[in-house]
Amino acid sequence: MIRPVAPADLPALARLFAWMDERPERRVLAPEGRTPEDLAFEIEDAWVATEAGEPVGFVGLVPFWRGAAIEGPVVRGGSPLPLLKAVLEEARSRSVPTLYAFPSEENQELKAALEALGFGPVHTTYFYQTEPRELGFAVPEGVRIEEVLALDPEVYRRLYREADEGWSLRLSWRDLELLEHFAEPEHRLWFAYLNDEPVGMVELEEGPDAAEVAYLGVVPRARGRGIGQALLATAVRAAREAGAPLVRVRAHDHEKEARKLYQRLGFTPLEAVVTYAKELTR
Ligand SMILES: CC(C)(COP(=O)(O)OP(=O)(O)OC[C@H]1O[C@@H](n2cnc3c(N)ncnc32)[C@H](O)[C@@H]1OP(=O)(O)O)[C@@H](O)C(=O)NCCC(=O)NCCS
Repeated sequence: MIRPVAPADLPALARLFAWMDERPERRVLAPEGRTPEDLAFEIEDAWVATEAGEPVGFVGLVPFWRGAAIEGPVVRGGSPLPLLKAVLEEARSRSVPTLYAFPSEENQELKAALEALGFGPVHTTYFYQTEPRELGFAVPEGVRIEEVLALDPEVYRRLYREADEGWSLRLSWRDLELLEHFAEPEHRLWFAYLNDEPVGMVELEEGPDAAEVAYLGVVPRARGRGIGQALLATAVRAAREAGAPLVRVRAHDHEKEARKLYQRLGFTPLEAVVTYAKELTR
């Protein structure tokens, strides 16, 4: 039976997510809380599959990009298909234009279920982490790296657009949204200048568990001279000074240079997540 989550389900759901954490082949985007109290704050639109009244499976729906994302399904000892079909119907009834899912690359069962229902893989994102440490770099000659304290949205957009043609999220933000985002003290941004011209950027998002490098980019004409490494080292140094216990970075499958850079600098590969999408036009 599939029904909406009730407060009494939360202890069983906390156990279900801890079970999911144990193995990469079970992992998928899911609520982050691991106690009933934290989950109570986090879970809104979500459903459980039950056996003899006990929750054995979970699926949720959260707003994402130009549509919604599925949390889960996480199912102990059964197929993810029934929960997946249920959440697909729910998204359709809410006229969600595009539905996304984020299984771990190793979660073969869920990837097969998504593909059976017409979801297509969009890209794979590789996550790495390191303890904050000195990465050992020399800022190349003619290059200056400066924290951006008064953002010019046009300069930012130009760097963002030129650094990677696959990046689009921030391009849809208006000036005010960009200014507000970078006015938050935990959202930090540095530009690299080559002979006074902006050619690279790195964005760091400081959080309680880890600092995350949200974007790292160097325009193609300025690559291969150590600017990327110097930008990354600057962000990692700042994370260390802010007391972050870990620094996380990510790269999509087409960003091979970034993956090489992270590996050369000794970042540990954490996991790979596949983005799946399905247009819900009837
Ligand atoms: C990833 C990226 C930022 C790297 O920028 P970069 O400035 O070229 O990086 P570096 O110059 O520090 O390192 C690149 C290579 O140049 C080499 N290099 C560095 N300094 C050098 C020098 N003085 N002379 C010759 N080679 C040099 C490095 O050893 C490295 O070689 P390898 O990785 O092939 O072994 C850039 O490729 C990029 O913007 N990619 C698209 C966006 C992206 O993928 N971002 C990451 C996800 S958010």
